[in-house]
Amino acid sequence: MDYNITPLFAPLIFESKLEKNYDSVFDEIKSNTLFVQHATAECYVSTVFNILENYQELKSDVMDTFNFYKNQILKYESTEFKITTSWVTKVRPGGISHYHNHKNCMYSGVLYFEEMFRGAPIEFTNTNLYQDSFLINQPSERNSYNTNTWQLHPSKNTIIIFPSYLMHRVGMHQSDSSRYSIAFNFMPDGYFGYADSTIRLENQQIF
Ligand SMILES: [Fe+2]
Repeated sequence: MDYNITPLFAPLIFESKLEKNYDSVFDEIKSNTLFVQHATAECYVSTVFNILENYQELKSDVMDTFNFYKNQILKYESTEFKITTSWVTKVRPGGISHYHNHKNCMYSGVLYFEEMFRGAPIEFTNTNLYQDSFLINQPSERNSYNTNTWQLHPSKNTIIIFPSYLMHRVGMHQSDSSRYSIAFNFMPDGYFGYADSTIRLENQQIF
């Protein structure tokens, strides 16, 4: 049968890999970052929220990746975005985080330092109310059309970008060593919108 399907209004999770070697940057961040405990056991977050400002080459690589997602896929070429916050997360063995989303931003992303055997995935969950109203029998195969959770298992230099409203968490980290990543948020910047929805946001200094 010929047919066409449209995953209408589906959130777009983008996954790619940075090509450059950032091992020395990752090592420096791992040894120099101060962490405080996050909401759940074994999950830690850096005390700074502008970590990428210290690593301009890496920041520009992250921006290039985001701009590919924004321009080539979403076709938002005429709106500029900027990184508002960036921070380091550390998950120790046995760690898992709560589901959460990121506020005061439009897109978010994560960059992973290394691949780990039994390392924590990032897990997304569906908060669509309709999906939650029925409990039917298990599908014969799980795919992105019929699941309410989705896991990505990042490897070294993997960068993931997603709409900030998507609920997600760090899945169970079953490796023997800690997992490090850098997370970041993006906001539209400059002059955008039209008529009564026009806004100019320029040279915002968050930190
Ligand atoms: Fe997050």
